[in-house]
Amino acid sequence: MSEASKVRIAGVGSHVPERILTNKDLEAMVETSDEWITSRTGIRERHIAADGEPSSSLGIAAAQAALKDAGISAEELDLIIVATITPDYIYPSTASILQQALGATRAVAYDIEAACSGFIYGITIGEQYIASGRAEKVLVVAAETLSKITDWQDRNTCVLFGDGAGAAVLTRAVDDSCILSSYIGGDGAFGELLYMPAGGSLNPASERTVLERMHYMKMSGNEVFRAAVNAMNNAASKAMAMAGITSKDVDLIIPHQANMRIIQSVAKFMEVDMAKVYVNLDRFGNTSAATIGIALREAMDRGVVKKGSVVAMVAFGGGFTWGSLIFRC
Ligand code: UT7
Repeated sequence: MSEASKVRIAGVGSHVPERILTNKDLEAMVETSDEWITSRTGIRERHIAADGEPSSSLGIAAAQAALKDAGISAEELDLIIVATITPDYIYPSTASILQQALGATRAVAYDIEAACSGFIYGITIGEQYIASGRAEKVLVVAAETLSKITDWQDRNTCVLFGDGAGAAVLTRAVDDSCILSSYIGGDGAFGELLYMPAGGSLNPASERTVLERMHYMKMSGNEVFRAAVNAMNNAASKAMAMAGITSKDVDLIIPHQANMRIIQSVAKFMEVDMAKVYVNLDRFGNTSAATIGIALREAMDRGVVKKGSVVAMVAFGGGFTWGSLIFRC
């Protein structure tokens, strides 16, 4: 890659809603236990958006924090990409809502949908715009309110998810702090293992779709678990090979926060100690595309990620989609 085409993550922001739902609270809602949830997933609590608090609200707050961190104004943005599976509307895009709310008058804005891999997909796309000279400043936002498509009567899924947003501002690199590699992949053959059956053009909203609870996400947990481990291992290997590094050169791994056992398997495969893996799913649960941005901001605030740190992000999600992105901070 030529020096001029290198791209950096210049600012990071995150935001979660105020309300916290604990495992104890869930015990009163479905037949589950704090012990089951903690031992099978590692999750203890999650943040849940209020009624009338959509994904865009969380995304706007995360975006404002990322812009502040990068020291640039919204008017300077050329492009806004929002990764979400819980958009405010089917259309217009949530990115359009952010464009208006932020005052990013020059920016092209559109949504992408790559489920839990959305943040890595979004940064990978934004990177290409800058590397090719089509844009100079790009905002990538992953904003999710999975609570709105959660079936609160289904213990298989309702204990897993939370709401939140993460955002990153991308600019041209000025030194060796830059994205070292990114790899994204997918396999549409497994779409129905993790999906929401109704609300789109195949099963538009009707009395039947509501009665049959088709507007909630459905997941075949076991199959998704196995696929997630394999795909995340594969994605991390590919991104490290593309960057010409091994896991010994990585200072911190920030995996998608879905399940502690998936994260431990990835760490084992990469032969890294769990001390080098950032985990915060105990406090936020699985916020889909937002998990990595929320974790990255927290790792920066806690001084776990410093200038010069090599960070590897790795994700897996519905679609199936997967990806890994390595950058020097
Ligand atoms: O973010 C995108 C990707 N998503 C993921 O990566 C999630 C991947 N999947 C997982 O994390 C795990 O598969 C789960 C956490 C969803 C489930 O864990 P598991 O160890 O695979 O459990 P299981 O599905 O095999 O269920 C074991 C038992 C079942 O009971 P029986 O049939 O053995 O009697 C479930 O009904 O646990 C039961 N169960 C529960 N029990 C108490 C399922 N959910 C609960 C619950 N509380 N909340």
